[in-house]
Amino acid sequence: MPDILITDDGPIRTIRMNRPDKKNALTLPMYEAMAAAIEEAGARAATRCLMIAGAPSAFCAGNDIGDFVGASRSGALGAPVLRFLHALARCEKPLVAAVQGAAVGVGTTMLLHCDHVVAATDAHLATPFVALGLLPEAGSSLLAPRLMGQARAFSLLVMGEPLTAEAAKQAGIVNTVVPVAEVDARALAAARAIAALPPQAVLASRRLMRGSPDEIVARIDAEAEAFKERLSSPEAQAAFAAFLARKR
Ligand code: COA
Repeated sequence: MPDILITDDGPIRTIRMNRPDKKNALTLPMYEAMAAAIEEAGARAATRCLMIAGAPSAFCAGNDIGDFVGASRSGALGAPVLRFLHALARCEKPLVAAVQGAAVGVGTTMLLHCDHVVAATDAHLATPFVALGLLPEAGSSLLAPRLMGQARAFSLLVMGEPLTAEAAKQAGIVNTVVPVAEVDARALAAARAIAALPPQAVLASRRLMRGSPDEIVARIDAEAEAFKERLSSPEAQAAFAAFLARKR
């Protein structure tokens, strides 16, 4: 079974992260597949809404930490990561997310690009970037303060304080909190409701609400430059080694 499953059901394209044994930690091929699916959906006339979902028990545990170690050696974050983040920021069609379990790192920051987020009661959002010696990515240094206010964004992004589904709803980055068993169906229902609206009116409204994506893309690139330097820092190296050694 591939690590990313793409399904088209009429106007809804679902992108499902499917690496449950690693809590959907994202590898470079997974970023590549998700980026391609978003880009293609942009050009696919039949697609009116995209849904991003995880496998049972986890939405996404963030970037694969083994890949972080590889990236620190090669001195590059990896083109597929940037391709995915750019695709998210430039996506013209509405993005719905179904979140259950852990949403860590990019598992949380990708949600800041979504238009409608349905979270299960067991969802917990966390961005331990600074504890890992890293810094916020995916445009989150711009989007989180905008969406949640500086104080809440600082707690999340710098202090690494996790958010429960309810707290994320109160912070304005989750729309609805539902029982675990209902999260996919409720997100799909929201996607279907969006897809049933006049499509050109949806696209025009969304474009007006979001403005140009250029500022976000520029921030993604600036964060990536700084991130690259952090990856090879002694702080980050020590944190990666501690994670990778924790069960041996
Ligand atoms: N990169 C690589 N592997 C990861 C991973 C990641 N980001 N997150 C989880 N995994 C792996 C674990 O190493 C473990 O592998 P193993 O079974 O071969 O030992 C497996 O996924 C299951 O993880 P585990 O920690 O046992 O599950 P859990 O339910 O107790 O905890 C998380 C889930 C997501 C809370 C926890 O795994 C975690 O904190 N992961 C790291 C998240 C992170 O820091 N991401 C980077 C953000 S910038």
